[in-house]
Amino acid sequence: MLRTLLTAFSLMLWTCLTPITCAQIDIAGLVQNFTLSDPALLKVPPIVDNETQTVIFPVYPGTSLSALAPVYSLTTGYTASPHSGTTLDLSRPIDLCILYDGTEYQTWTLSAVNMRSPALPGLYADPNIVVFGDTYYIYSTTDGFPGWGGNTLYVWSSRNLVDWTRTVDPVLTLNGTSGNVPWADGNAWAPTIHKRNGTYFLYFSGNNPTYDRKTIGVATGPSPTGPFTAQSTAMILNNEALNASQAIDPAAFVDPMTGTYYLFWGNGKPLMAELADDMTSLKQDTLANVVGLTNFTEASFVVYRKPYYHYSFSNGNTNDASYYAGYATATDVHGPWTYRGRVLEERSAKDILGTGSTSTVNVPGTDDWFMAYHRFQIPSGNGTDREVCIDRIIFDQSDGLMWPVTPTLVGVAAESVPDGGHGW
Ligand SMILES: *[C@@H]1O[C@H](CO)[C@@H](O)[C@H](O)[C@H]1NC(C)=O
Ligand SMILES: *[C@@H]1O[C@H](CO)[C@@H](O)[C@H](O)[C@H]1NC(C)=O
Ligand SMILES: *[C@@H]1O[C@H](CO)[C@@H](O)[C@H](O)[C@H]1NC(C)=O
Ligand SMILES: *[C@@H]1O[C@H](CO)[C@@H](O)[C@H](O)[C@H]1NC(C)=O
Ligand SMILES: *[C@@H]1O[C@H](CO)[C@@H](O)[C@H](O)[C@H]1NC(C)=O
Ligand SMILES: *[C@@H]1O[C@H](CO)[C@@H](O)[C@H](O)[C@H]1NC(C)=O
Ligand SMILES: *[C@@H]1O[C@H](CO)[C@@H](O)[C@H](O)[C@H]1NC(C)=O
Repeated sequence: MLRTLLTAFSLMLWTCLTPITCAQIDIAGLVQNFTLSDPALLKVPPIVDNETQTVIFPVYPGTSLSALAPVYSLTTGYTASPHSGTTLDLSRPIDLCILYDGTEYQTWTLSAVNMRSPALPGLYADPNIVVFGDTYYIYSTTDGFPGWGGNTLYVWSSRNLVDWTRTVDPVLTLNGTSGNVPWADGNAWAPTIHKRNGTYFLYFSGNNPTYDRKTIGVATGPSPTGPFTAQSTAMILNNEALNASQAIDPAAFVDPMTGTYYLFWGNGKPLMAELADDMTSLKQDTLANVVGLTNFTEASFVVYRKPYYHYSFSNGNTNDASYYAGYATATDVHGPWTYRGRVLEERSAKDILGTGSTSTVNVPGTDDWFMAYHRFQIPSGNGTDREVCIDRIIFDQSDGLMWPVTPTLVGVAAESVPDGGHGW
Protein backbone atom coordinates (compact mmCIF):
# COMPACT_ATOMS: atom_id res chain seq x y z
CA MET A 1 0.00 0.00 0.00
CA LEU A 2 2.70 2.42 1.11
CA ARG A 3 4.78 1.38 -1.86
CA THR A 4 1.90 2.08 -4.24
CA LEU A 5 1.46 5.53 -2.72
CA LEU A 6 5.18 6.23 -2.98
CA THR A 7 5.19 5.13 -6.60
CA ALA A 8 2.19 7.31 -7.35
CA PHE A 9 3.86 10.21 -5.57
CA SER A 10 7.13 9.90 -7.47
CA LEU A 11 5.16 9.55 -10.71
CA MET A 12 3.40 12.83 -9.87
CA LEU A 13 6.74 14.47 -9.11
CA TRP A 14 8.13 13.11 -12.33
CA THR A 15 5.13 14.45 -14.24
CA CYS A 16 5.55 17.89 -12.74
CA LEU A 17 9.31 18.11 -13.04
CA THR A 18 9.89 16.48 -16.39
CA PRO A 19 9.86 19.14 -19.07
CA ILE A 20 8.38 16.75 -21.73
CA THR A 21 8.09 18.82 -24.90
CA CYS A 22 5.58 21.26 -23.49
CA ALA A 23 7.69 24.31 -24.21
CA GLN A 24 6.66 24.03 -27.84
CA ILE A 25 3.06 23.14 -27.14
CA ASP A 26 0.11 25.52 -26.93
CA ILE A 27 -1.26 24.16 -23.69
CA ALA A 28 -4.73 25.63 -24.19
CA GLY A 29 -5.01 23.83 -27.50
CA LEU A 30 -4.16 20.25 -26.53
CA VAL A 31 -7.78 19.24 -26.89
CA GLN A 32 -10.07 21.13 -29.24
CA ASN A 33 -13.22 21.16 -31.27
CA PHE A 34 -15.56 19.65 -28.68
CA THR A 35 -18.90 18.43 -29.99
CA LEU A 36 -21.17 15.38 -29.63
CA SER A 37 -21.26 12.39 -31.96
CA ASP A 38 -24.83 13.56 -32.59
CA PRO A 39 -24.35 17.34 -32.79
CA ALA A 40 -28.08 17.83 -33.40
CA LEU A 41 -28.63 17.22 -29.66
CA LEU A 42 -26.79 20.46 -28.85
CA LYS A 43 -29.00 23.50 -28.31
CA VAL A 44 -25.94 25.76 -28.52
CA PRO A 45 -22.26 24.88 -29.10
CA PRO A 46 -20.39 23.35 -26.14
CA ILE A 47 -19.36 25.95 -23.58
CA VAL A 48 -15.60 25.67 -23.20
CA ASP A 49 -13.75 27.35 -20.36
CA ASN A 50 -10.03 27.08 -21.13
CA GLU A 51 -9.09 28.54 -17.77
CA THR A 52 -10.81 25.94 -15.59
CA GLN A 53 -10.63 23.30 -18.32
CA THR A 54 -14.31 22.55 -18.20
CA VAL A 55 -16.72 21.78 -21.03
CA ILE A 56 -20.48 21.90 -20.73
CA PHE A 57 -22.60 20.26 -23.41
CA PRO A 58 -25.91 22.19 -23.43
CA VAL A 59 -28.43 19.80 -24.94
CA TYR A 60 -32.11 20.33 -25.68
CA PRO A 61 -34.55 19.82 -22.81
CA GLY A 62 -35.72 16.20 -22.73
CA THR A 63 -32.43 14.79 -24.03
CA SER A 64 -31.06 12.01 -21.80
CA LEU A 65 -27.81 13.14 -20.20
CA SER A 66 -26.77 9.61 -19.26
CA ALA A 67 -25.76 8.43 -22.74
CA LEU A 68 -23.93 11.14 -24.66
CA ALA A 69 -20.81 10.66 -26.76
CA PRO A 70 -18.47 13.68 -26.64
CA VAL A 71 -16.14 14.03 -29.59
CA TYR A 72 -12.90 16.02 -29.56
CA SER A 73 -9.61 16.25 -31.37
CA LEU A 74 -6.16 16.16 -29.86
CA THR A 75 -2.82 17.63 -30.75
CA THR A 76 -0.66 14.98 -32.43
CA GLY A 77 1.14 12.73 -29.95
CA TYR A 78 -1.50 13.08 -27.21
CA THR A 79 -4.15 10.54 -26.32
CA ALA A 80 -7.26 10.84 -24.21
CA SER A 81 -9.09 8.68 -21.72
CA PRO A 82 -11.95 8.13 -22.32
CA HIS A 83 -11.45 8.14 -26.07
CA SER A 84 -13.28 10.63 -28.22
CA GLY A 85 -16.65 9.16 -29.22
CA THR A 86 -17.10 7.03 -26.06
CA THR A 87 -20.68 7.06 -24.76
CA LEU A 88 -20.65 8.53 -21.24
CA ASP A 89 -23.00 9.42 -18.42
CA LEU A 90 -22.64 13.20 -18.39
CA SER A 91 -25.40 13.83 -15.86
CA ARG A 92 -22.47 14.20 -13.47
CA PRO A 93 -19.04 15.71 -14.23
CA ILE A 94 -16.60 13.25 -15.82
CA ASP A 95 -12.82 13.61 -15.96
CA LEU A 96 -11.22 13.60 -19.37
CA CYS A 97 -7.52 12.82 -19.02
CA ILE A 98 -5.13 13.99 -21.69
CA LEU A 99 -2.08 11.72 -21.76
CA TYR A 100 1.36 12.01 -23.27
CA ASP A 101 3.46 8.86 -23.43
CA GLY A 102 1.00 7.22 -21.06
CA THR A 103 1.38 9.97 -18.45
CA GLU A 104 -1.57 12.10 -17.42
CA TYR A 105 -0.81 15.59 -18.55
CA GLN A 106 -4.01 17.58 -18.27
CA THR A 107 -7.50 16.95 -16.89
CA TRP A 108 -10.70 18.39 -18.29
CA THR A 109 -14.11 18.12 -16.73
CA LEU A 110 -17.03 17.31 -18.99
CA SER A 111 -20.71 17.58 -18.14
CA ALA A 112 -24.04 18.14 -19.85
CA VAL A 113 -27.17 20.13 -19.01
CA ASN A 114 -30.68 20.22 -20.37
CA MET A 115 -30.66 23.84 -21.43
CA ARG A 116 -34.07 25.40 -20.93
CA SER A 117 -32.73 28.96 -20.87
CA PRO A 118 -33.52 31.43 -22.24
CA ALA A 119 -37.12 31.46 -21.02
CA LEU A 120 -38.21 33.51 -24.03
CA PRO A 121 -37.02 32.39 -27.47
CA GLY A 122 -35.39 35.14 -29.50
CA LEU A 123 -33.79 38.41 -28.50
CA TYR A 124 -35.55 40.30 -25.69
CA ALA A 125 -34.36 42.30 -22.70
CA ASP A 126 -35.50 44.27 -19.62
CA PRO A 127 -38.12 41.71 -18.58
CA ASN A 128 -40.88 42.72 -16.17
CA ILE A 129 -42.47 39.51 -14.89
CA VAL A 130 -45.89 39.67 -13.24
CA VAL A 131 -48.81 37.36 -12.49
CA PHE A 132 -52.51 38.10 -13.09
CA GLY A 133 -54.92 35.31 -12.11
CA ASP A 134 -53.48 31.96 -13.20
CA THR A 135 -51.16 33.43 -15.84
CA TYR A 136 -47.64 34.82 -15.75
CA TYR A 137 -46.80 37.69 -18.10
CA ILE A 138 -43.50 39.17 -19.23
CA TYR A 139 -43.33 42.69 -20.62
CA SER A 140 -39.97 43.30 -22.27
CA THR A 141 -37.84 45.27 -24.71
CA THR A 142 -37.52 43.75 -28.18
CA ASP A 143 -33.78 43.39 -28.70
CA GLY A 144 -31.36 42.87 -31.58
CA PHE A 145 -31.23 46.45 -32.89
CA PRO A 146 -28.18 48.72 -33.02
CA GLY A 147 -28.47 51.49 -30.43
CA TRP A 148 -31.36 49.61 -28.76
CA GLY A 149 -33.48 50.98 -31.61
CA GLY A 150 -36.40 48.54 -31.45
CA ASN A 151 -39.76 50.27 -31.68
CA THR A 152 -42.17 47.45 -30.78
CA LEU A 153 -43.43 46.05 -27.48
CA TYR A 154 -44.96 42.57 -27.25
CA VAL A 155 -46.45 40.70 -24.30
CA TRP A 156 -45.51 37.12 -23.38
CA SER A 157 -47.75 34.85 -21.34
CA SER A 158 -47.32 31.45 -19.69
CA ARG A 159 -49.26 29.15 -17.37
CA ASN A 160 -46.16 27.36 -16.07
CA LEU A 161 -43.11 29.72 -16.31
CA VAL A 162 -41.58 27.43 -18.97
CA ASP A 163 -43.76 27.58 -22.09
CA TRP A 164 -44.23 31.17 -23.21
CA THR A 165 -46.45 32.51 -25.97
CA ARG A 166 -45.96 35.93 -27.51
CA THR A 167 -48.72 38.17 -28.77
CA VAL A 168 -48.69 37.80 -32.56
CA ASP A 169 -48.57 41.55 -33.12
CA PRO A 170 -46.85 44.24 -31.08
CA VAL A 171 -49.15 45.73 -28.46
CA LEU A 172 -47.42 49.09 -28.96
CA THR A 173 -45.39 50.46 -31.88
CA LEU A 174 -43.40 53.63 -31.25
CA ASN A 175 -43.18 55.13 -34.72
CA GLY A 176 -44.91 58.51 -34.50
CA THR A 177 -48.25 58.66 -36.24
CA SER A 178 -47.33 55.51 -38.21
CA GLY A 179 -47.43 53.59 -34.94
CA ASN A 180 -49.87 53.85 -32.02
CA VAL A 181 -47.84 56.00 -29.61
CA PRO A 182 -48.01 59.44 -31.24
CA TRP A 183 -45.38 61.14 -29.04
CA ALA A 184 -42.62 58.55 -29.56
CA ASP A 185 -40.45 57.62 -32.51
CA GLY A 186 -38.52 54.60 -31.24
CA ASN A 187 -36.44 53.10 -28.38
CA ALA A 188 -39.37 51.14 -26.98
CA TRP A 189 -37.81 50.08 -23.70
CA ALA A 190 -38.51 48.37 -20.41
CA PRO A 191 -42.31 48.22 -20.08
CA THR A 192 -44.05 47.58 -16.75
CA ILE A 193 -47.69 47.23 -15.76
CA HIS A 194 -50.22 48.11 -13.06
CA LYS A 195 -53.73 46.72 -12.75
CA ARG A 196 -56.30 48.88 -11.05
CA ASN A 197 -60.04 48.43 -10.88
CA GLY A 198 -60.08 46.12 -13.91
CA THR A 199 -57.94 48.34 -16.14
CA TYR A 200 -54.34 47.61 -17.12
CA PHE A 201 -51.87 50.51 -17.27
CA LEU A 202 -48.77 49.80 -19.34
CA TYR A 203 -45.84 52.19 -18.68
CA PHE A 204 -42.83 52.27 -21.00
CA SER A 205 -39.96 54.49 -22.10
CA GLY A 206 -39.45 55.80 -25.60
CA ASN A 207 -37.63 58.46 -27.53
CA ASN A 208 -39.53 61.72 -27.58
CA PRO A 209 -38.50 63.90 -30.55
CA THR A 210 -40.35 66.92 -29.14
CA TYR A 211 -37.90 67.04 -26.23
CA ASP A 212 -35.05 65.17 -27.92
CA ARG A 213 -34.76 62.77 -25.01
CA LYS A 214 -36.30 59.68 -23.49
CA THR A 215 -39.60 60.12 -21.70
CA ILE A 216 -42.03 57.71 -20.03
CA GLY A 217 -45.56 57.18 -21.26
CA VAL A 218 -48.60 55.07 -20.46
CA ALA A 219 -51.20 53.13 -22.39
CA THR A 220 -54.39 51.61 -21.03
CA GLY A 221 -56.20 48.41 -21.91
CA PRO A 222 -58.90 45.99 -20.76
CA SER A 223 -56.59 42.95 -20.40
CA PRO A 224 -52.93 42.14 -19.70
CA THR A 225 -52.38 41.75 -23.44
CA GLY A 226 -54.35 44.83 -24.44
CA PRO A 227 -55.46 46.11 -26.80
CA PHE A 228 -53.66 49.15 -25.41
CA THR A 229 -54.46 52.77 -26.17
CA ALA A 230 -51.57 55.15 -25.54
CA GLN A 231 -52.04 58.62 -24.09
CA SER A 232 -51.40 61.29 -26.71
CA THR A 233 -48.51 62.80 -24.75
CA ALA A 234 -45.84 61.38 -22.46
CA MET A 235 -46.32 61.31 -18.71
CA ILE A 236 -42.81 61.74 -17.23
CA LEU A 237 -40.77 64.28 -19.21
CA ASN A 238 -37.70 64.45 -16.96
CA ASN A 239 -38.27 68.19 -16.38
CA GLU A 240 -40.13 67.59 -13.13
CA ALA A 241 -38.96 69.01 -9.79
CA LEU A 242 -36.48 66.11 -9.59
CA ASN A 243 -34.95 64.52 -12.64
CA ALA A 244 -32.74 61.58 -13.55
CA SER A 245 -30.01 61.37 -16.19
CA GLN A 246 -32.69 59.73 -18.30
CA ALA A 247 -36.38 59.07 -17.64
CA ILE A 248 -36.30 55.36 -18.51
CA ASP A 249 -36.96 51.95 -16.94
CA PRO A 250 -40.28 52.46 -15.13
CA ALA A 251 -41.20 49.84 -12.52
CA ALA A 252 -44.71 49.43 -11.15
CA PHE A 253 -45.15 48.65 -7.47
CA VAL A 254 -48.34 48.45 -5.44
CA ASP A 255 -47.64 48.44 -1.73
CA PRO A 256 -49.56 45.55 -0.16
CA MET A 257 -49.38 47.30 3.22
CA THR A 258 -51.25 50.41 2.07
CA GLY A 259 -52.68 49.68 -1.39
CA THR A 260 -50.76 52.69 -2.78
CA TYR A 261 -49.68 52.59 -6.43
CA TYR A 262 -46.11 53.70 -7.19
CA LEU A 263 -43.75 54.09 -10.08
CA PHE A 264 -39.98 53.86 -9.69
CA TRP A 265 -37.73 54.85 -12.61
CA GLY A 266 -34.55 56.56 -13.73
CA ASN A 267 -31.07 56.13 -15.10
CA GLY A 268 -28.17 57.66 -13.14
CA LYS A 269 -30.51 58.68 -10.31
CA PRO A 270 -33.36 56.57 -8.95
CA LEU A 271 -36.69 58.37 -8.56
CA MET A 272 -40.11 57.37 -7.24
CA ALA A 273 -43.58 58.84 -7.01
CA GLU A 274 -47.14 57.87 -6.20
CA LEU A 275 -49.50 57.57 -9.11
CA ALA A 276 -52.55 59.82 -9.14
CA ASP A 277 -55.97 58.15 -9.04
CA ASP A 278 -56.20 58.28 -12.85
CA MET A 279 -52.99 56.18 -12.96
CA THR A 280 -51.84 58.22 -15.97
CA SER A 281 -50.15 61.01 -14.02
CA LEU A 282 -47.95 61.39 -10.96
CA LYS A 283 -48.81 62.99 -7.66
CA GLN A 284 -46.09 65.58 -8.20
CA ASP A 285 -45.77 66.37 -4.50
CA THR A 286 -44.75 62.75 -3.82
CA LEU A 287 -41.82 62.81 -6.27
CA ALA A 288 -38.71 61.71 -4.36
CA ASN A 289 -35.16 60.50 -4.69
CA VAL A 290 -34.47 56.92 -3.65
CA VAL A 291 -31.75 57.04 -1.01
CA GLY A 292 -29.21 54.36 -0.06
CA LEU A 293 -28.57 52.38 -3.25
CA THR A 294 -24.89 51.71 -3.96
CA ASN A 295 -23.70 52.04 -7.56
CA PHE A 296 -27.17 52.60 -9.01
CA THR A 297 -27.29 52.87 -12.79
CA GLU A 298 -30.81 51.84 -13.85
CA ALA A 299 -33.50 49.14 -13.91
CA SER A 300 -35.24 49.66 -10.57
CA PHE A 301 -37.60 46.96 -9.35
CA VAL A 302 -39.39 46.74 -5.99
CA VAL A 303 -41.32 43.95 -4.27
CA TYR A 304 -42.52 43.38 -0.74
CA ARG A 305 -41.92 40.22 1.26
CA LYS A 306 -42.19 40.42 4.99
CA PRO A 307 -40.42 42.09 6.74
CA TYR A 308 -38.80 44.09 3.93
CA TYR A 309 -39.32 46.02 0.78
CA HIS A 310 -36.74 44.51 -1.63
CA TYR A 311 -35.15 46.72 -4.26
CA SER A 312 -33.08 45.37 -7.15
CA PHE A 313 -31.38 47.54 -9.73
CA SER A 314 -28.59 47.31 -12.28
CA ASN A 315 -25.09 48.72 -12.33
CA GLY A 316 -22.69 49.40 -15.18
CA ASN A 317 -22.99 49.50 -18.93
CA THR A 318 -25.40 46.95 -20.34
CA ASN A 319 -22.83 46.37 -23.12
CA ASP A 320 -20.36 44.99 -20.57
CA ALA A 321 -20.18 41.38 -19.46
CA SER A 322 -19.74 42.70 -15.91
CA TYR A 323 -23.16 44.45 -15.80
CA TYR A 324 -24.71 43.23 -12.55
CA ALA A 325 -27.70 43.70 -10.25
CA GLY A 326 -27.41 45.20 -6.79
CA TYR A 327 -29.89 44.72 -3.96
CA ALA A 328 -31.17 46.84 -1.09
CA THR A 329 -33.91 46.56 1.51
CA ALA A 330 -36.00 48.93 3.60
CA THR A 331 -38.78 48.69 6.15
CA ASP A 332 -40.56 51.69 4.60
CA VAL A 333 -41.19 52.04 0.88
CA HIS A 334 -39.82 55.58 1.12
CA GLY A 335 -36.52 54.25 2.46
CA PRO A 336 -33.86 54.84 3.48
CA TRP A 337 -32.57 51.72 1.76
CA THR A 338 -29.80 49.49 3.09
CA TYR A 339 -27.48 48.14 0.41
CA ARG A 340 -27.08 44.36 0.69
CA GLY A 341 -24.61 43.58 -2.09
CA ARG A 342 -24.97 41.96 -5.47
CA VAL A 343 -27.99 39.81 -6.14
CA LEU A 344 -27.11 38.71 -9.68
CA GLU A 345 -23.85 38.69 -11.60
CA GLU A 346 -22.08 37.03 -14.50
CA ARG A 347 -20.88 33.41 -14.47
CA SER A 348 -18.28 33.50 -17.19
CA ALA A 349 -17.35 29.79 -16.89
CA LYS A 350 -20.88 29.07 -18.12
CA ASP A 351 -20.83 31.90 -20.67
CA ILE A 352 -23.54 33.70 -18.65
CA LEU A 353 -22.62 37.36 -19.14
CA GLY A 354 -24.10 40.82 -18.75
CA THR A 355 -26.76 39.72 -16.25
CA GLY A 356 -29.12 42.50 -15.15
CA SER A 357 -32.48 44.26 -15.45
CA THR A 358 -34.10 42.12 -12.81
CA SER A 359 -37.73 41.73 -11.88
CA THR A 360 -39.28 39.32 -9.42
CA VAL A 361 -42.56 37.49 -9.06
CA ASN A 362 -44.17 35.58 -6.23
CA VAL A 363 -46.31 32.57 -7.17
CA PRO A 364 -49.61 33.50 -5.49
CA GLY A 365 -50.51 31.37 -2.50
CA THR A 366 -46.93 30.13 -2.08
CA ASP A 367 -43.60 31.45 -0.87
CA ASP A 368 -42.02 30.59 -4.21
CA TRP A 369 -40.24 33.47 -5.93
CA PHE A 370 -38.61 33.83 -9.30
CA MET A 371 -36.35 36.40 -10.90
CA ALA A 372 -36.54 37.34 -14.58
CA TYR A 373 -33.48 39.08 -16.01
CA HIS A 374 -31.59 39.42 -19.22
CA ARG A 375 -28.10 38.26 -20.17
CA PHE A 376 -26.10 38.24 -23.38
CA GLN A 377 -27.40 35.78 -25.95
CA ILE A 378 -25.63 32.39 -25.84
CA PRO A 379 -23.52 31.99 -27.89
CA SER A 380 -21.76 35.25 -28.75
CA GLY A 381 -24.38 37.78 -27.69
CA ASN A 382 -23.70 41.31 -26.53
CA GLY A 383 -25.41 44.35 -25.03
CA THR A 384 -27.93 44.61 -27.85
CA ASP A 385 -28.36 40.87 -28.45
CA ARG A 386 -29.81 39.77 -25.14
CA GLU A 387 -32.04 36.94 -23.93
CA VAL A 388 -34.59 36.79 -21.11
CA CYS A 389 -34.05 34.12 -18.44
CA ILE A 390 -35.75 33.06 -15.24
CA ASP A 391 -34.17 31.56 -12.13
CA ARG A 392 -35.37 30.82 -8.64
CA ILE A 393 -35.00 33.24 -5.74
CA ILE A 394 -34.37 31.90 -2.27
CA PHE A 395 -35.08 34.05 0.76
CA ASP A 396 -33.10 33.35 3.89
CA GLN A 397 -35.54 31.87 6.39
CA SER A 398 -33.88 33.57 9.36
CA ASP A 399 -33.06 37.11 8.21
CA GLY A 400 -35.59 37.44 5.38
CA LEU A 401 -33.01 38.60 2.82
CA MET A 402 -32.74 37.38 -0.76
CA TRP A 403 -29.78 35.12 -1.36
CA PRO A 404 -27.75 35.99 -4.44
CA VAL A 405 -29.55 34.43 -7.38
CA THR A 406 -27.56 31.87 -9.36
CA PRO A 407 -28.12 32.39 -13.07
CA THR A 408 -28.31 28.98 -14.74
CA LEU A 409 -28.25 27.45 -18.20
CA VAL A 410 -30.96 25.03 -17.10
CA GLY A 411 -33.58 27.61 -16.08
CA VAL A 412 -36.59 26.73 -13.92
CA ALA A 413 -38.93 23.75 -13.80
CA ALA A 414 -42.59 24.18 -14.64
CA GLU A 415 -44.66 25.73 -11.83
CA SER A 416 -48.24 26.77 -12.26
CA VAL A 417 -50.28 29.02 -9.99
CA PRO A 418 -52.01 26.77 -7.38
CA ASP A 419 -55.78 26.31 -7.75
CA GLY A 420 -55.69 27.93 -11.18
CA GLY A 421 -55.31 31.32 -9.54
CA HIS A 422 -58.77 31.23 -7.95
CA GLY A 423 -58.86 33.19 -4.79
CA TRP A 424 -55.53 34.92 -5.31
C1 LIG B 1 -10.08 27.81 -25.94
O1 LIG B 1 -8.87 27.45 -26.58
C2 LIG B 1 -9.02 27.01 -27.93
C3 LIG B 1 -7.70 26.50 -28.42
O2 LIG B 1 -6.66 27.37 -28.10
C4 LIG B 1 -9.55 28.16 -28.75
O3 LIG B 1 -9.77 27.74 -30.08
C5 LIG B 1 -10.87 28.62 -28.17
O4 LIG B 1 -11.34 29.76 -28.85
C6 LIG B 1 -10.72 28.94 -26.69
N1 LIG B 1 -12.06 29.16 -26.15
C7 LIG B 1 -12.38 30.25 -25.46
C8 LIG B 1 -13.80 30.34 -24.98
O5 LIG B 1 -11.55 31.11 -25.19
C1 LIG C 1 -10.14 21.99 -34.91
O1 LIG C 1 -10.89 22.39 -36.02
C2 LIG C 1 -10.22 23.34 -36.84
C3 LIG C 1 -11.20 23.80 -37.91
O2 LIG C 1 -11.82 22.71 -38.51
C4 LIG C 1 -8.97 22.71 -37.43
O3 LIG C 1 -8.29 23.66 -38.20
C5 LIG C 1 -8.08 22.24 -36.29
O4 LIG C 1 -6.97 21.56 -36.81
C6 LIG C 1 -8.85 21.32 -35.36
N1 LIG C 1 -8.02 21.02 -34.20
C7 LIG C 1 -7.47 19.82 -34.01
C8 LIG C 1 -6.60 19.68 -32.80
O5 LIG C 1 -7.66 18.88 -34.74
C1 LIG D 1 -41.98 53.88 -39.33
O1 LIG D 1 -42.97 54.40 -40.18
C2 LIG D 1 -42.49 54.81 -41.47
C3 LIG D 1 -43.65 55.43 -42.21
O2 LIG D 1 -43.98 56.62 -41.58
C4 LIG D 1 -41.98 53.62 -42.20
O3 LIG D 1 -41.45 54.01 -43.45
C5 LIG D 1 -40.88 52.95 -41.39
O4 LIG D 1 -40.48 51.76 -42.00
C6 LIG D 1 -41.35 52.65 -39.96
N1 LIG D 1 -40.20 52.25 -39.19
C7 LIG D 1 -40.16 51.14 -38.47
C8 LIG D 1 -38.87 50.85 -37.82
O5 LIG D 1 -41.12 50.42 -38.33
C1 LIG E 1 -63.99 51.21 -10.77
O1 LIG E 1 -64.64 51.04 -12.01
C2 LIG E 1 -66.04 51.21 -11.96
C3 LIG E 1 -66.62 50.81 -13.31
O2 LIG E 1 -65.83 51.33 -14.36
C4 LIG E 1 -66.35 52.64 -11.56
O3 LIG E 1 -67.72 52.82 -11.46
C5 LIG E 1 -65.69 52.92 -10.20
O4 LIG E 1 -65.86 54.29 -9.89
C6 LIG E 1 -64.23 52.61 -10.25
N1 LIG E 1 -63.67 52.73 -8.92
C7 LIG E 1 -62.56 53.39 -8.66
C8 LIG E 1 -62.08 53.38 -7.25
O5 LIG E 1 -61.92 53.95 -9.54
C1 LIG F 1 -32.73 68.57 -14.10
O1 LIG F 1 -32.35 68.98 -12.81
C2 LIG F 1 -31.23 69.86 -12.79
C3 LIG F 1 -30.92 70.17 -11.35
O2 LIG F 1 -30.65 69.01 -10.67
C4 LIG F 1 -31.52 71.12 -13.58
O3 LIG F 1 -30.36 71.91 -13.65
C5 LIG F 1 -31.96 70.75 -14.99
O4 LIG F 1 -32.35 71.89 -15.68
C6 LIG F 1 -33.10 69.76 -14.94
N1 LIG F 1 -33.44 69.34 -16.30
C7 LIG F 1 -34.62 69.61 -16.86
C8 LIG F 1 -34.79 69.14 -18.27
O5 LIG F 1 -35.52 70.16 -16.28
C1 LIG G 1 -19.22 50.04 -7.49
O1 LIG G 1 -18.67 50.32 -8.76
C2 LIG G 1 -17.26 50.37 -8.77
C3 LIG G 1 -16.83 50.88 -10.11
O2 LIG G 1 -17.51 50.24 -11.16
C4 LIG G 1 -16.73 48.98 -8.44
O3 LIG G 1 -15.35 48.99 -8.45
C5 LIG G 1 -17.25 48.57 -7.08
O4 LIG G 1 -16.86 47.25 -6.82
C6 LIG G 1 -18.76 48.65 -7.03
N1 LIG G 1 -19.21 48.47 -5.66
C7 LIG G 1 -19.95 47.44 -5.29
C8 LIG G 1 -20.35 47.44 -3.84
O5 LIG G 1 -20.30 46.56 -6.05
C1 LIG H 1 -23.83 42.56 -31.27
O1 LIG H 1 -23.72 41.44 -32.12
C2 LIG H 1 -24.38 41.62 -33.36
C3 LIG H 1 -24.35 40.30 -34.10
O2 LIG H 1 -23.05 39.80 -34.15
C4 LIG H 1 -23.68 42.74 -34.13
O3 LIG H 1 -24.35 42.96 -35.35
C5 LIG H 1 -23.74 44.01 -33.28
O4 LIG H 1 -23.02 45.04 -33.90
C6 LIG H 1 -23.16 43.78 -31.90
N1 LIG H 1 -23.45 44.93 -31.07
C7 LIG H 1 -22.58 45.42 -30.20
C8 LIG H 1 -23.05 46.58 -29.39
O5 LIG H 1 -21.47 44.96 -30.06
